[in-house]
Amino acid sequence: MPPLKRLLLVYHTRTGLSHQIASSMRTGAINAASTMGSPLSVDFLRPREATVGHLLRADGYLFACPENLASVSGEMLEFFHDKYYGAFSADGEGSLIAGRPVGMAVASGSDGSAAAAQMSRICRGWRLREVTEEVLVVKNGLVQTKENILSKKAPMGEKERQLCEEIGGLVAATVLLEGE
Ligand SMILES: Cc1cc2nc3c(=O)[nH]c(=O)nc-3n(C[C@H](O)[C@H](O)[C@H](O)COP(=O)(O)O)c2cc1C
Repeated sequence: MPPLKRLLLVYHTRTGLSHQIASSMRTGAINAASTMGSPLSVDFLRPREATVGHLLRADGYLFACPENLASVSGEMLEFFHDKYYGAFSADGEGSLIAGRPVGMAVASGSDGSAAAAQMSRICRGWRLREVTEEVLVVKNGLVQTKENILSKKAPMGEKERQLCEEIGGLVAATVLLEGE
């Protein structure tokens, strides 16, 4: 029996949109594995729950978080800060997770581009392989009033849900195909 393939999905959310994004990514990954008839484990974790062990054990990655103040949100950024060098070898040989596939998405109000660029750069530092040309940005479509920004987000649109599922499916399929 080949070893069980694993995805690590780490997400942070303040008002729920990134949780919807992450859930759709997970659905896409599970559906892809089921279509391919291959077992797949998905660790679906908040940033504080994810360890260096999770990072090193995973065959592929999914990351989702909101843009806050033109940055990856604080809790998610702390995950990257705290775990980043844990995925590098002590002898300076470089990233221990190089070449593994990654899919990313950012929830935003009016922009999202800064967080997308930042997360993409972090993953390039790890030498991960992005499964999409660009990080998906899911705008919440709300007028950016204080009330709207701080309120729990309405369900995201069907198109966005499908795009998130596609990203999850792409990472899962890449991992499973490479295991054959
Ligand atoms: C403190 C704070 C800062 C924010 N900064 C930005 C920003 O820089 N750019 C942007 O497009 N949206 C910004 N937003 C809006 C959120 O990105 C948006 O509401 C997003 O949908 C939240 O995702 P979540 O529901 O997963 O927390 C900000 C929201 C908060 C609470």
